[in-house]
Parts: sequence; C-alpha cells; structure tokens
Amino acid sequence: MAEAIWARLSAHHRATAGRPIADLFAEDPGRAADFAAESEGLLLDYSKTAIDARALHLLAGLAEAAGVAGRREAMFAGAPINATEGRAVLHTALRNLDGSVHVNGVDVMDGVRATLARLEGFALDVRAGRLRAPGGPVSDVVAIGIGGSDLGPAMATAALAPYHDGPRLHFVSNVDGAHLADTLRPLDPRRTFVIVASKTFTTVETMTNAVSARDWLAAAVERPGEQFAAVSSALDRTRAFGLDPARVFGFEDWVGGRYSLWGPIGLPLMVAISPARFRAFLAGGAAMDAHFRAAPFTENLPLLLALVGIWHRQVAGHATRAVLPYDQRLARLPAYLQQLEMESNGKRVAIDGTDLLRPSGPVVWGEPGTNGQHAFMQLVHQGTEVVPCEFLLAARGHEPGLAHHHRLLAANCLAQSEALMRGRSLAEARALMAARGLAGAELERQARHRVFPGNRPSVTILYPQLTPFVLGQIIALYEHRVFVEGTILGLNSFDQWGVELGKELAGSLLPVLEGREHGRGRDGSTARLAARIRALGDAAADTEGAG
Ligand code: F6P
Repeated sequence: MAEAIWARLSAHHRATAGRPIADLFAEDPGRAADFAAESEGLLLDYSKTAIDARALHLLAGLAEAAGVAGRREAMFAGAPINATEGRAVLHTALRNLDGSVHVNGVDVMDGVRATLARLEGFALDVRAGRLRAPGGPVSDVVAIGIGGSDLGPAMATAALAPYHDGPRLHFVSNVDGAHLADTLRPLDPRRTFVIVASKTFTTVETMTNAVSARDWLAAAVERPGEQFAAVSSALDRTRAFGLDPARVFGFEDWVGGRYSLWGPIGLPLMVAISPARFRAFLAGGAAMDAHFRAAPFTENLPLLLALVGIWHRQVAGHATRAVLPYDQRLARLPAYLQQLEMESNGKRVAIDGTDLLRPSGPVVWGEPGTNGQHAFMQLVHQGTEVVPCEFLLAARGHEPGLAHHHRLLAANCLAQSEALMRGRSLAEARALMAARGLAGAELERQARHRVFPGNRPSVTILYPQLTPFVLGQIIALYEHRVFVEGTILGLNSFDQWGVELGKELAGSLLPVLEGREHGRGRDGSTARLAARIRALGDAAADTEGAG
C-alpha cells in the first residue's frame, strides 16, 4: 500500500517538476489560504512549495498507511514505542499537567507534578535570594550539560531574553576547557551557583566540566558542594558525586534527552524567566499537543510540516533544509533542531531492523536572518542545489522603540521567500542591463549572472510575538513533525545509537594521548595525529612550565 503511494508521489513529482510554483497562485486565487494552517495564532504557510492538491492527497495517504494516528495515540498513552530501548516516549506528559498517563500500570502524573513543584520551589528560592551563596544572593547560574541537556535550555533561555528577571544564566557544554574557563573568568565564585544537567550523569564532557567547576569553587569557598544542583535520571550517580538529594531533580527514562526541555532539564530557563512564565511555555507545548491530536489533517500543523519535509527530502531528493529564523533571539534554534531532527531521524535502519528504502531525514542547518542573506543565501538563490527553506518570523518584536527595525526585518523575510519562488528570468535580467546602458555581448554576459532560477520552495511560520507560550508551540510543533516524519519512514526517532562509536573510540584514545598506551593497532592517520599532539602538546607544556 505505502509503496504504491510512494511510486505515485514520485510520478507526480516528475510530471510537475518544471511547473513554476508562482503559476499555482495564478491558477488558484485561494492557494495562499488553502495551503496554510493555523493553531492559536501560529500560522504555517506552505503555499510557496510545489505541493498541490494531488501531492497533498498522496502525502496524507502515506501518513495514513504508516499508521501515524494510531502511533500518535500510543505515544500519548505511554506505550513503549521506543522499541529499540523498550521505553515509552512521554515528554508530552511533562506539559499536559491535568491528565493521567499510565506506564507499567502506574500513573506517572503525580510524580511529574511533584517534581515540577520542587523545581518551582528551588527556582523561586534562587530568584528571591533565599538560596544564598557565601557572598550573598546568587548573581550567576552556570548550567553544565551537553546535547539535549544543553541545547534546549540554552536555546530557550536566549529566545526568551525579554522575560529574564532572575540571576544571569550561562551555559557550558564543550569539554574544551576554553568554554568553562571563558565562562567562569568574569564570575564571582562566592555568588555563583552551578546546575549540572545530565540524564545519565556519565557523559564525559559534562562530568569533566562539573568536576572542574567544583575545583574552581573550592579554591574560593569552604563548601563548594552547597553551590550545586543536579538534574538527572541517575540518582545513584548524583549521590555518588556528593550532591544533596534535596537539590537533585530526577526524571524518568521515558523522557529522551533531546525532548527533555519541558521538565527538570528546563530548570535554568525557569530560574531565568520565573515558574509562572515557564508554565506558560508548557501551556504552549500542551496547546500544540491538543492541536496535533484533534485537528484534521488539512489543518494539522505538525502533520503538514512533516509532509512538506517528506515531499522535499524523500520525494524531491533535496538533501538539506535551511531553518532561517528572522528572529535574532532564535539564533540557537537551528542548532537545537539539528539535534532534534538529525539525532532522531538520521538513521539507515528501520525500526524492524531492515534497511531503510529511501533517504533518512535531511541535513538541517541555518542562521538567523538577515545575517544569512549576507552570507550563504547566494547559494540558496543561485547555486546548483535546491535548499528548501523554513522562515520563522514574529509579527512584532519586543522593542517598541525600534519598530522600524522590525518592519525592515519582516520585509527582508518576506522578500527572501518571494525571491526564491519568483526568481528573475533572462529576459528580465537583460532588460535590467539594458536600462543600465549595456548592450551587445557585454549585456549578454552580465545578464546571465543576474538570472535567478526561482521556483525554490519555502515555508513560513508566522507568530504574533516570541512569548513563552509561542516558543512552547514552536518547539512542540517541531517535535511532532519529527515524530510524523520518523513514523512515515518507519524509523525509531527516539534512540541515538549513532553517537556511541565515537564515544567508545575517544575513551580508548585518551590513554594514547596521555602516553599510557601506544597507538599500535590504530590506522596510520590516527596514530600519527595522536603522536604529533603528544609531541607538540607536551613540548608546549614544557616550554610554558619553563617560562
Ligand atoms: O551523545 C548524545 C547524547 O546521548 C544525547 O542524546 C543527549 O542529549 C546527550 O548525549 C547528553 O546526555 P546526558 O544528558 O546523559 O548527559
């Protein structure tokens, strides 16, 4: 059934590949409204893609054949849909606070609500100065984590900067000592608090940074352990690290790392913006969940965004997609989505262990506009590859005194999607050159450089303003999009075995770099590079020591 639909989709794509997207608007005056959907003020416009009524019908058939609706309900109900790890997938339970969800016969919501209450108590204590550091109220919080234990809170904390009224927040993720050193340098250890976030509490980058941060505190205060809190699902390990259980916030294994922002991993965000605003963020996610479960497919934002993704990657064959927030505070959104999408759907084996029959999810990349326009958009407009773009834009900013900036920003955002679709023909380019006084061969030569092929697809996500609620909607929208794409492809979007091999090899290379083992048995390149690092690293350290 599904294979027949894939075949029909390919045939339809081939048959319509040369048709200008702009013509679809001419043929159908209602296109802009028909190929758009809205949920509580969040608008998804996918009319500037080549998807037409037939493509949409076939794509919806794919979702049906893959059993998206049934698997969606299984996910919300706590069924163990993460089959390779035998776990439920219940990040949605962290934001749907009124319901009840059973895992192995136990209602997990009492625990969710109790943990949220503890988090709120802690956040309020820090923000009100009741939790004191040796030098006075906490002025700075350093959040240490990596991957899903960093990207979500770091992205969201930057996104909601207008709502910050707590202590200053800093995020350290990289094991490169430069990250920790540069972050700690301006801080006062007597006024600083550290939150270590690690689901497993074994991640080497996070644990190395946590130990070094503790050493930094220990050089200035008597009891550095009192300036630590931890977020983890490995409570035995947080205890072994010497952390006060009253300052440890646990979560269950049914919350995947890259889906964990909604619970204790979101603690730094809550400290920054207040528990009440954090609840508004949760409400935004819950609103998108309700929409995802109830809206018919032509109005269902996550489903439609996923179908657009499938059309561009698996049907049209575009290998990457660009995420372009015209919203400076969403600067970390592309990095966050890289983990969410590529760690979830960057797989070549289906959930049943067979080879995937078509490409995995795309490479996701991007930068905020308008900066990208002055960098990589050249390739997106005139390069040989088609890069489907996803624009995000607020109708209004948070700077009333700078409203003209926002209008310029919005004009640029709309202009990009318009230019990508419309392009500029050779005839138009020739007319342009003629108007500048060129003629003959020189006109021809110059005109060719000014041709834009156009017909390049994009979607636009438009929201009233980047509030906590709206951010919750946007993140949940992307989470469910990943789920739908993964389900259609037959993938398990909730494991990440592809990160393991590098971790193992790094572990076995450390003794080589420390000189405790030889690099014998490794490939020539790795052994030679390791030897060179040892020679230059040790030589430099000796010189510094002597100096
Ligand atoms: O390396 C990948 C990964 O396992 C991610 O999935 C996860 O978000 C990250 O590492 C951090 O893991 P932890 O929270 O256990 O430190």
